[in-house]
Amino acid sequence: MATKTATADPLFWNKVAGAILGSGLIAMTCGFIAELLVHPHMLKENAFVVPVPEAATKGPVEQKPLEPIAPLLANADIAAGQKAATKCLACHSFDKGGPNKVGPNLWDVVGGPHAHVPSFSYSPAMGALKDQAWDYEALNKYLFNPKAAVPGNKMAFAGISSEKERANVIAFLRSRSDAPKPLP
Ligand code: HEC
Repeated sequence: MATKTATADPLFWNKVAGAILGSGLIAMTCGFIAELLVHPHMLKENAFVVPVPEAATKGPVEQKPLEPIAPLLANADIAAGQKAATKCLACHSFDKGGPNKVGPNLWDVVGGPHAHVPSFSYSPAMGALKDQAWDYEALNKYLFNPKAAVPGNKMAFAGISSEKERANVIAFLRSRSDAPKPLP
């Protein structure tokens, strides 16, 4: 009596193929349903914001007060200052009797009052300081960070971060006068 072996079944390989195809289909369907149920999408903002103490985000450099410019002025390079001041030319002239542009003419500004050109229409912030002189340290602070030094003023200039370059530019400004102010 012949036992019915697997190979004797004429449909055996069909069944095997069917089983493989079937499980493949089931796997695909599961993947498809899972995708429908769980919708992974990226958030635009972090769902959880980890608070970082403010002190940790500020570098020590920013907290340091600006070093006085006075010690650098004696050895400042006027020619280098004039070269660096080409980035001011879009808005300022430096000659005696030169025109106001976006900003005021800067002849004789060192030692003069803030808002030193009567014919220029200054911002109220700058106009409010006209009792104060543009001494070397005031210019140093203003040219380092115009926005912070005179809040609300309208000079749209980022500032000069290099101490040496500021000294050179201030020395050049000082030279633009019939009677340059004494060095500090
Ligand atoms: C994008 C234009 C712009 C640039 C660039 C610019 N300034 Fe000015 N500056 C102004 C304006 C506008 C004012 C007047 C600000 C106000 O009235 O608030 C001003 C004011 C000043 C003042 C004060 C003048 C006064 O009479 O009180 C000084 C000093 C000065 N600028 C220096 C410089 C120097 C030096 C540079 C280049 C390193 C420079 N600025 C670059 C627009 C500019």
